[in-house]
Amino acid sequence: MTDNTEYLLEVQGLKKYFKAGRKKILKAVDDVSFCIRKGETLGVVGESGCGKTTCGRTCLGIYEKTGGQVSYRGRDVHGMDREERRIFTKQAQIIFQDPYASLDPKMKVLNIVAEGIRAHKMAADEADIKRRVESLLTTVGLDPAYGSRYVHEFSGGQRQRIGIARALAVEPEFIVCDEPISALDVSIQAQIVNLLERLQRERGLTYMFIAHDLSMVKHISDRVMVMYLGKIMEITTADQLYAAPRHPYTQALLSAIPIPDPRVEADKVRIRMEGEIPSPIDPPEGCRFQNRCPHAAEECKNREPVLQKVGEEHFAACHMCR
Ligand SMILES: Nc1ncnc2c1ncn2[C@@H]1O[C@H](COP(=O)(O)OP(=O)(O)OP(=O)(O)O)[C@@H](O)[C@H]1O
Ligand SMILES: [Mg+2]
Repeated sequence: MTDNTEYLLEVQGLKKYFKAGRKKILKAVDDVSFCIRKGETLGVVGESGCGKTTCGRTCLGIYEKTGGQVSYRGRDVHGMDREERRIFTKQAQIIFQDPYASLDPKMKVLNIVAEGIRAHKMAADEADIKRRVESLLTTVGLDPAYGSRYVHEFSGGQRQRIGIARALAVEPEFIVCDEPISALDVSIQAQIVNLLERLQRERGLTYMFIAHDLSMVKHISDRVMVMYLGKIMEITTADQLYAAPRHPYTQALLSAIPIPDPRVEADKVRIRMEGEIPSPIDPPEGCRFQNRCPHAAEECKNREPVLQKVGEEHFAACHMCR
């Protein structure tokens, strides 16, 4: 963090714990540090429950933090006054996984997309709001006349476009895309990724792009962060992560992606993960991945590995990666 690259988001030692029952604590995000540069896409990947959504929401200040620090353009996200908060909610937006649950089916598309425009008093009058919404609908590839329709009339892919239009309405510079394609048909997924990529180019957007599968973030990410039970296991450029993954967990996730060429697929060495993913309420001692890791040694059971540099722009938390 000493070079002069412009960081939009800087996360230091972030923790987000939830109460789980009377005495137990669930460490959903446990001491993670990373940065997102202006204009880049950071892919965030890991199995269900590893803390991706919690991390994204805590970075946006939707959740209070338990510890650590999130800075956006140098401002502490969790220590903003009202005015700073107002500006931040315009700069940073979120797109949700489930376009069925996240958009009110009883609302007209116009009112959904216009929500932020109204809240931030960005339009002169109702005619201006309508004009803006029509332009946004066109931008995301929908008919501008759809504003007068209800959300329940639309398909999953169309709803996700409406969700994207809603996020874009306040002219943000940073968007947390929380599994925006996971709930969609495979045939629609590429269309939404292409749309997000075009919008990024046209508007200079910065993305945190969450997915549970490495194949989904490959195309869109500049760098990828792999999470496991609330921790970062590996973070590096997308090119390096796919070509030379260092962490056994990343290697296992990658080996689970089918390769389109059947000959290559047949020769591929599969890395099997033993056992079930442990509960984040009671993670294993030492390295959290040790009970499933094919390379686990004695050291891994006793001492927790820290994220350390293993190459240019390449960090991994593994005793075996030295
Ligand atoms: N509001 C909450 N209260 C209590 N526990 C929570 C809450 N939100 C998340 N958790 C727990 O925190 C852990 C991380 O959840 P999170 O939703 O961040 O995971 P995720 O990686 O986004 O998973 P998925 O891929 O299923 O979306 C899980 O064990 C989850 O049950
Ligand atoms: Mg999630």
